Amino acid sequence: MTNNLIILYNSKTGFTRKYAELLALELGCTALPLSRAPADLSGYAAVVFGSRLHAGIFDGWKKAQKLLQSRGAKRLVVFATGAMPNEAEERIRTVWEQNLTPAEQEAIPHFYLQAGLCYEKMGGVDRAMMKFAAWAMSRKKAKTPEDEAFQGAIRQSYDISDPKYIAPLAECLRGLG
Ligand SMILES: Cc1cc2nc3c(=O)[nH]c(=O)nc-3n(C[C@H](O)[C@H](O)[C@H](O)COP(=O)(O)O)c2cc1C
Repeated sequence: MTNNLIILYNSKTGFTRKYAELLALELGCTALPLSRAPADLSGYAAVVFGSRLHAGIFDGWKKAQKLLQSRGAKRLVVFATGAMPNEAEERIRTVWEQNLTPAEQEAIPHFYLQAGLCYEKMGGVDRAMMKFAAWAMSRKKAKTPEDEAFQGAIRQSYDISDPKYIAPLAECLRGLG
């Protein structure tokens, strides 16, 4: 058991929580929802924050960053879960460029973990956003193969998460813990 690392997460439909808990099990540390973050984080060698991608935004990051820093977190490591496959490297790079400043990209190890979509556990606003995305895509004329794949994928729930995807993140954390 390491008391040197802590994993904090936001999760609406469970994918991020599942990855956070797998990681905690693998590393022998604690995983908690961000809302239950300890008041003092200064004793940890690294604090991990995990959340979903939400319309291209690393959901809750700005708020989490402020909170974690105000509680004394020294080293931050982040991971995002999403519906894109890990192979969408270009789009994943763009997401990080749009969510982390160049200095943050340099200082904060960041990982993307493919997860999926779960309509059953999704809230009303999110369902409406997905409905809108499906409608917008159906209206788009010259669809790229990626658009076609996206349109097909979002018709129903799917789970492309796998415990094996935590390996690079776990390795990074072992080096810090
Ligand atoms: C409204 C909405 C927007 C989303 N936008 C993205 C996105 O831009 N990129 C992506 O890869 N996944 C996107 N997703 C999928 C979620 O990021 C994915 O389901 C995530 O793993 C959910 O995490 P959670 O189960 O911990 O809440 C979106 C999902 C919803 C409902």
